[in-house]
Amino acid sequence: MIIRLAEKDDIEQIADIHQKEINKGFLSGLGSGFLEKVYLAIIKSKISFCVVDEENGKITGFIAGAVNLDKFFRYFLKNHFFTAFFSLSPQIFNLEKIKKIIEVLFYPKKGNSLPEAELLTIAVINEFQGQGIAVQMLARFIYEMKNRKIGSFKVIVGESLTPAIKFYEKSGFRFVKNINIHGNYISRVYAYYIK
Ligand SMILES: CC(C)(COP(=O)(O)OP(=O)(O)OC[C@H]1O[C@@H](n2cnc3c(N)ncnc32)[C@H](O)[C@@H]1OP(=O)(O)O)[C@@H](O)C(=O)NCCC(=O)NCCS
Repeated sequence: MIIRLAEKDDIEQIADIHQKEINKGFLSGLGSGFLEKVYLAIIKSKISFCVVDEENGKITGFIAGAVNLDKFFRYFLKNHFFTAFFSLSPQIFNLEKIKKIIEVLFYPKKGNSLPEAELLTIAVINEFQGQGIAVQMLARFIYEMKNRKIGSFKVIVGESLTPAIKFYEKSGFRFVKNINIHGNYISRVYAYYIK
């Protein structure tokens, strides 16, 4: 198990894991080209980062976060959105999907009493789950947040993602509230306070 910060060369594998393991998530529907641009932005920006686990030269999981989500969105829109837009999968061009993009981009403003820092995504390849990889990646993620002088961060998780909810609760995240980002779909907000 090699836990390290992600590099540019890892982007394709990270996007692939995201697409397969968070397949119901809204970002997965935008296509792997778009996802690669999002992870490139996460790795390149100073206000975000991504931690990966590597086994025999292969990425088996990742965890990504931003120190300030609002600022990260602004950085993404300014520096990457134009090229990302042209890598969108053609299925995206319907009204419902465009509405969702806007909801996701502007949701941070709704929850301004919550920590600004956020755990954006975590996923481990199915065959590697249950081996403690997420626990190790989270430990490094917390260390990286602490290094960036962050005292707490939030995570938003879909109500139906039971393994993820169990993982957050076991890892010391505190339930804050339910929110409704995508229409009737309920998500839970958790916060983690770094000691
Ligand atoms: C959530 C996820 C990252 C956990 O990864 P993992 O490497 O399997 O987790 P770990 O092996 O480190 O497990 C740590 C703890 O989490 C909990 N947990 C993890 N998977 C679980 C499952 N399927 N059911 C119940 N609890 C689970 C357990 O408490 C476990 O500790 P234990 O084994 O001592 O009981 C993984 O299930 C995943 O990739 N899910 C799909 C992606 C996703 O939903 N991401 C969240 C949205 S951002």
